[in-house]
Amino acid sequence: MKILAFETSCDETAAAIVEDGRKILGSALYSQIDIHREYGGVVPEIASRNHLLKLPYILDAVYSSANLTSADIDAVAVTNGPGLVGALLTGVTFAKSYAYSIGKPLIAVNHIAGHVCANYLTHSELTPPFLCLIVSGGHTELVQVLDYNEYGVLGKTRDDAAGEALDKVARLLGLPYPGGPNLETLALTGEYNAFAFTRSFKGEDTLDFSFSGMKTAAVNLLHKAAQSGNIIKDADLAASFLTAVVYNLLDNAFSAIGKFGGDKLVIAGGVGANFQLRREAKKRADESGVQLFLPDVSLCTDNAAMIGSAAYFCGQPAELALNAEPNLALF
Ligand code: KG4
Ligand code: ZN
Repeated sequence: MKILAFETSCDETAAAIVEDGRKILGSALYSQIDIHREYGGVVPEIASRNHLLKLPYILDAVYSSANLTSADIDAVAVTNGPGLVGALLTGVTFAKSYAYSIGKPLIAVNHIAGHVCANYLTHSELTPPFLCLIVSGGHTELVQVLDYNEYGVLGKTRDDAAGEALDKVARLLGLPYPGGPNLETLALTGEYNAFAFTRSFKGEDTLDFSFSGMKTAAVNLLHKAAQSGNIIKDADLAASFLTAVVYNLLDNAFSAIGKFGGDKLVIAGGVGANFQLRREAKKRADESGVQLFLPDVSLCTDNAAMIGSAAYFCGQPAELALNAEPNLALF
């Protein structure tokens, strides 16, 4: 089954053609990073307008890259949430109109399920059940993937998502948008243990996360240093903060494995592209005999191939009345 999928939930305009949820036949992606950089973050209205401008070209480009035509497509899929409402609406409206015009069925896809399914594209042997650490700009969750369409939540953030916290600290350090990857680069030249950040919920029986306290601690460090005339090396703060985020994420993920059993850990979402998270996860997995699955770096951040995969494994057949749902839940 060949599915043409669209993704426009934030600032990437993307389309892909995916076969049987596992094989990418073609993909096209237009990143708006350069447009939003001057504002320090994504401006929703500008994102929507640029999706509208680019979608027709992205559609042509995906067919060219797959060397296929609309006659080869079995269904059209689209992310209908969660995400920015205007951005989602452009993709949903475009996909609905296109599916109608070529007479093919429409499939609605949850963006977060898409991030999980990026792993089915990278690892042809991966099947549920497994434990999944979802770490994106808007979500941080530890879930049991019991079956392709059956998720159980074990823990989630009570405040900021991991990516959101990294982006905010990056901004505090004057780094350009997107913060996470720039913080990662700066951290490479810093001391990872220059500053200590408290472990969230230490000693408590919870698999939840919290990052806003750590973020405030970083703000206070910088303010106190400025007031007292001490010089803090930005790279040290970046490295220490990133390390604290990574350790908090992985401490909970490996605790969950200890608590609930299982031997497969899967990482999903934009922060999964982070080299330090990948390296530390590999180290801990090797030490504890856990099989670790990481999406290809190019499939960690938003893309349409993951939506094409999720459409196959856990998409919802949809009608032309399909609407964007900015707060669509996974569970
Ligand atoms: O999954 P994603 O592309 O979009 C959402 O669905 O939110 O995740 C974006 C998040 C941003 O917070 C971005 O800074 C972070 O992922 N990110 C990274 C890296 N690449 C993207 N964070 C740390 N290191 C990276 N290499
Ligand atoms: Zn995403």
